[in-house]
Amino acid sequence: MPVIIATDRAGKEHRIEGKSGQSVMLNLREVGGLDIAAICGGSCSCSTCHVYVDEDWMDKVPAQQPDEYEVVEFSSHYQPNSRLSCQIPFSEALDGLKVTLAPEG
Ligand code: FES
Repeated sequence: MPVIIATDRAGKEHRIEGKSGQSVMLNLREVGGLDIAAICGGSCSCSTCHVYVDEDWMDKVPAQQPDEYEVVEFSSHYQPNSRLSCQIPFSEALDGLKVTLAPEG
């Protein structure tokens, strides 16, 4: 089973056995039990699923679409490696993906 290595807001690392075909957001929240509000339910409009993708994985995750960028760029904690985890479909190809939860707010 492919895994996601996720660092929570306290700096603790979690190894999550992910489900392919679901978004990274759903894997972090539903499978991994991490604190992700996902207020919009994954419809790319709230940015509460904001994560930082490890630099080594930036060119391996599916490309960011313009509508995702328009939402995440206005996050107060935006960085060049910011992504909305609801917009990243998880798959075997992303086995070992490393992300860090962005601060809330
Ligand atoms: S869950 Fe709202 S933008 Fe991802």
